[in-house]
Amino acid sequence: MSSSPDSLSQTTDAIDPSFVFDFRAYDEPDALDQRWSTWHDVEPLCRGPEPRPAWLITDRAAIDTELGILKTGKEADVFLLERAVDDGPSVVMAAKRYRDITHSNFHRNSSYTEGRRGKDTREARAAAKGTRFGRTVAAGQWANAEWESLKLCWSLGLPVPYPVQIDGTELLMEWITVGPEGDRETAPRLAQTRPDADLLASYFVQLREAMATMAQHGIVHGDLSAYNLLAAGDRLVIIDLPQVVDLVGNPQGMDFLLRDCANVCAWFRSKGMDPDVADEHALFSDLLATAF
Ligand SMILES: Nc1ncnc2c1ncn2[C@@H]1O[C@H](COP(=O)(O)OP(=O)(O)OP(=O)(O)O)[C@@H](O)[C@H]1O
Ligand SMILES: [Mg+2]
Repeated sequence: MSSSPDSLSQTTDAIDPSFVFDFRAYDEPDALDQRWSTWHDVEPLCRGPEPRPAWLITDRAAIDTELGILKTGKEADVFLLERAVDDGPSVVMAAKRYRDITHSNFHRNSSYTEGRRGKDTREARAAAKGTRFGRTVAAGQWANAEWESLKLCWSLGLPVPYPVQIDGTELLMEWITVGPEGDRETAPRLAQTRPDADLLASYFVQLREAMATMAQHGIVHGDLSAYNLLAAGDRLVIIDLPQVVDLVGNPQGMDFLLRDCANVCAWFRSKGMDPDVADEHALFSDLLATAF
C-alpha cells in the first residue's frame, strides 16, 4: 500500500507529542575492556552517600573502561576504571574486586567477625559451609563490609576515599592521587614515603584525630599500618576497611585498637619521631579517654 506525502504528514501530526522523544544513538561499547556504566544497574542503596562529589558521573550513557591493574592484594585486586561520557566529563576511579576465598591467599581470622550481628540466611549458611556458592558469598560479604565501613567513615568526615558504588564483589571508590590535574598518579602508601619532620608531625596529628573520631563512634580500623594509609601530598587517607571492628561489641575490640596503635607508632618512630609522642600506650589511652 502506498501512502501519499500528504497522508504521511497527517499521520505524523496525529502523534501524541508525549510519545515523541529525542533519540541519540550511541556506539555500543564493543571492546572487551569496556561496559556500560553500572551506576544505574545497582540498587539506590548501593550508590554512594549524598551530597555526592561534583566529579561523580551518573549519566546513563557513560561507558566504563578498564585502565589496568593497580595492585594485587591478599584478598582483592585493585584496578583503575575510567567512567566517561562521549564528548563529556570523565573520571578515573579505583575498583577493588574481592576474589572468592579459593583465589585468595589470605584467610581472615574469625575474631574480626565476632560480635558482628548476622542473619541466618541461606547465604550465611553457605558462606559458613564453604561451598563454591558460599565462597562467592563470603567475598561479597567482605566487599559489603568494606562498603558499609567506607560509607560510615565518609559520613563521619574521616579521610577515606569516597565510596561510589558496590556491585557484588566489586567496590568502586575515589582514586586517591598525587600530582596536578591531568597528570595524576596513585598516591604512595605511607610506608613508601620519607616525610620531613614537619610533614611527619602533621601526618601523626591527622592520624590521631581520625583514630579518635573512629573510637568515639565505637569503631576500630583493625588492620591499620603504614601500608593501609596513603600519602596524598599533605593529606593522609585511610584505606582498606573491610575488617573494621566494634570497639565494644567485639570482645577483642580493645586488642585490635592497641595493635593498630602499635603498628602506626612503630612506623612513626622508625622515621624519627619522638618516641614519647609516637608511643602506642599513650596513644591508646588518649583514644580511650576521648571515646568514653
Ligand atoms: N582508593 C584508592 N586510591 C588509590 N590507591 C588505592 C586505593 N585503594 C587501594 N589502592 C592501592 O591498592 C593497594 C591495595 O588496596 P587495599 O589495601 O585496599 O587491598 P588489600 O587487598 O587489602 O591489599 P593488601 O593485601 O596489599 O593490604 C593499596 O595499598 C593502594 O596502593
Ligand atoms: Mg591493604
